[in-house]
Amino acid sequence: MPNLIISKCVCREMPFTRLLPLARQRGWSLVDLIRETGCGGGCGLCRPYLVRMLATGETVFHDLIVE
Ligand code: FES
Repeated sequence: MPNLIISKCVCREMPFTRLLPLARQRGWSLVDLIRETGCGGGCGLCRPYLVRMLATGETVFHDLIVE
C-alpha cells in the first residue's frame, strides 16, 4: 500500500510523537497509556501501532499492522 502514513491516534487526535515521550517519561505500558490518554481506547485501530511504538520507538508507520 503506497504512501500509507499512520502517525497518530485518530480518535483522540494525538500524534505518536507526543505519546512516545510521555510513555517513556512515565514508564507506561500499553494499558497505562490507554488509561491515561484514552488513545487506543476508542476504535482500537491504533492499538497495534501503539504496541510497536512502545517496543521500538517508531512514531510513523507505513504498513498495516493487524494484531
Ligand atoms: S485511532 Fe486510536 S482509538 Fe481509534
